[in-house]
Amino acid sequence: METVVSGIRSTGKLHLGNYYGAVNNFVKMQNEYNCFFFIADYHSLTTHPTPQDLHGNIKQVLVEYLAAGLDPEKTTLYIQSDVPEIAELYLYMNMNAYVGELERSASFKDKIRANPNNVNAGLLTYPVLMAADILIHHATKVPVGKDQEQHLEMSRTFGNRFNHLYQTEYFREPYAFNYTNDLIKIPGLDGKGKMGKSEGEMNAVYLSDSPETIRKKVMRAVTDAGPTQENQEKPQEIQNLFDLMKVVSPADTLSHFDDLYAKCQIRYGDFKKALAEDMIIATQPIREKIEDISKDSKLLRQVAKHGAIKARESAQKTIKEVREIIGFKSF
Ligand code: TYM
Repeated sequence: METVVSGIRSTGKLHLGNYYGAVNNFVKMQNEYNCFFFIADYHSLTTHPTPQDLHGNIKQVLVEYLAAGLDPEKTTLYIQSDVPEIAELYLYMNMNAYVGELERSASFKDKIRANPNNVNAGLLTYPVLMAADILIHHATKVPVGKDQEQHLEMSRTFGNRFNHLYQTEYFREPYAFNYTNDLIKIPGLDGKGKMGKSEGEMNAVYLSDSPETIRKKVMRAVTDAGPTQENQEKPQEIQNLFDLMKVVSPADTLSHFDDLYAKCQIRYGDFKKALAEDMIIATQPIREKIEDISKDSKLLRQVAKHGAIKARESAQKTIKEVREIIGFKSF
C-alpha cells in the first residue's frame, strides 16, 4: 500500500484553502492509503510564536483535523515535535541542500519580501525540514495545495542526492497529490491572491467561522461594476468568487450564475448571498464539531499520544537505516 504524508503548520485556524487544498483529501485518502498526517509545529517556529500561542495553535489544528473527519484509528495523526527523529533526518538532509537553490525557492522569496527583518536560517531551510517530514515515512503521495509544488520538487532532489551520494535507492520520490490531478489554489476574498492566514482576517473564510461571519465576509468581497458586454471574460476578482463557488456549490448553481454573467444579468448581491449560504452548508458539519472536540482534553491527549507512538515507530526504523547507510555504526 502506498504511503501518504502531509501536514499543516500550527499557525491558527484552518481556512477553506487548507480544507480544499489539503484536509479534504486527507479525509478521503485515509480510507485508501497508509497515511501519516501531522501538525507542523517545528515549521511554525520560523515566525517566533509565544509559547501560549504555539500551544493553542497546535491544539486548534488537532481539533480541526478531528472535526473534519480524520480518524486516528485509520491514520497516524501526530504532532511533528513529538517525533524528534524528523529533526535528525533534517540535519542529514541539510548536507544535501545547497544555499543557492534554497534562496531561489519562490516561497522563501515571498517570505523575505513580506518580512525582511526576520530572514532566519529556519526559513531558508524550510523545504529541507519538509523533505525530512516526507522521507522519514517513505511517502510517495503528498496531498497539498498548488503553493507546495516546488517544495515537493525539492524533496525529490534532496532524497535523490542522498541516494546518489551513498549509492543506494533508499529514498523513494514523493509527488504532490490531488484527486482531480490538478493541484488546487483557493483564492481569497480580497480579489487578489490566494486565501491565506497572513492575508488578513477578512480575506479568509475559516472552518470555525459562524454563519453571520461568513455572510459578512462574503458580502464585503471585492467585485466590480458588472459585465458590460455579453460573454466577456471575467476580471480576476470576479473569477475568484466563481472559483470559490466551484468548490462549495452544486454544479447547477455555478452554471446558473455563469449564464447570468454571460448575459450581463448577474446581480452580485444575489450571487454573493448564494455563495455565502453554500459556504455555510459546506462548513457546517465541521463547525458543529469543533467546539465539542476542543473541550475534550482527554480525547486530544489520547490521540496525540497514540499518534506519536505510531509515527515514532516508523521514523525510528528509518533513522536506524539512514545512520547505517551514512556510516554511523557501532563498533
Ligand atoms: P500551511 O499550513 O501553509 O498549509 C497547509 C496546507 O494547506 C494548503 N493551502 C492551500 N491550498 C489551496 N489554496 C490555498 N489558498 C491554500 N492555502 C494553504 C497548502 O498547500 C498545504 O497543503 N509547508 C506545508 C506544511 C508542511 C508539509 C510538510 C506539507 C510541512 N511539512 C510535509 C506536506 C508534507 C504548508 O504549506 O503548510
